[in-house]
Amino acid sequence: MTLNREQMLLEMGIRPLWTLRDALPVPGEEASATATAAEAAAVVADCPPAMVAPEKSAPLPAELAWDELGPAMQACRACVLGQRRRQAVPGVGDVRAEWLFIGEGPGSEEDAQGEPFVGAAGQLLDAMLAALDLTRQKAVYIANAVKCRPPDNRTPEPAEIEACRPWLQRQVALLQPKVIVLLGKTAAQSLLGKQDKLAAMRGQVFEYSGIPVVVTYHPAYLLRNLPDKAKAWEDLLRARRAWRAKTG
Ligand code: SF4
Ligand code: URA
Repeated sequence: MTLNREQMLLEMGIRPLWTLRDALPVPGEEASATATAAEAAAVVADCPPAMVAPEKSAPLPAELAWDELGPAMQACRACVLGQRRRQAVPGVGDVRAEWLFIGEGPGSEEDAQGEPFVGAAGQLLDAMLAALDLTRQKAVYIANAVKCRPPDNRTPEPAEIEACRPWLQRQVALLQPKVIVLLGKTAAQSLLGKQDKLAAMRGQVFEYSGIPVVVTYHPAYLLRNLPDKAKAWEDLLRARRAWRAKTG
């Protein structure tokens, strides 16, 4: 962030001013939208058929208890993303979370560490949480629309989002958060089944299973479009109002 931008944001009266602890580059973010369905198919072609076939005997996510979800995701091969990941990344946080934040999918650092949002975008997410007086350990759970890293950090294909949706739905059903914040289009597509532009989904409160849902920008997008942090802050305040209304 340049000083000028920082000054501009300050003058716009945007509090808090979210900054990264270090001005890290965002590995792979620029490349994320470039891969194609053909690449996804190539991953399948590279795998022996036995590895590609879904595990027919695997239990359904909807039947599993919270403690069973992580190991079951590690065994999941319901889509091609299961082939090239190092590990599935189920989520992190408080099992009694009142806030659920949902991103897109693991990147390379998340794939290596097994925790969502540990890269540069994660530092910004932590700053956003801090602005709400939240931390990733307390009252918050952080998950992703897809649990396995897409090759080369490409955007997950619709079929992959669909294949992974039951895991996310089970997480929501067990957590029963008071509010859900969807970070970016992929999360909105997964939970709300919406393919609208992000700008069209901001500014309202949706509902999923009786839980208020707010859509905002993905932190990786905000790193490249700093002035939009003001809009993201409005969204987070909207989410906080929805949370307050639920908690009384
Ligand atoms: Fe299973 Fe989701 Fe991983 Fe695909 S991305 S293999 S559906 S856990
Ligand atoms: N971006 C995401 O959407 N999720 C992560 O876990 C990391 C980066």
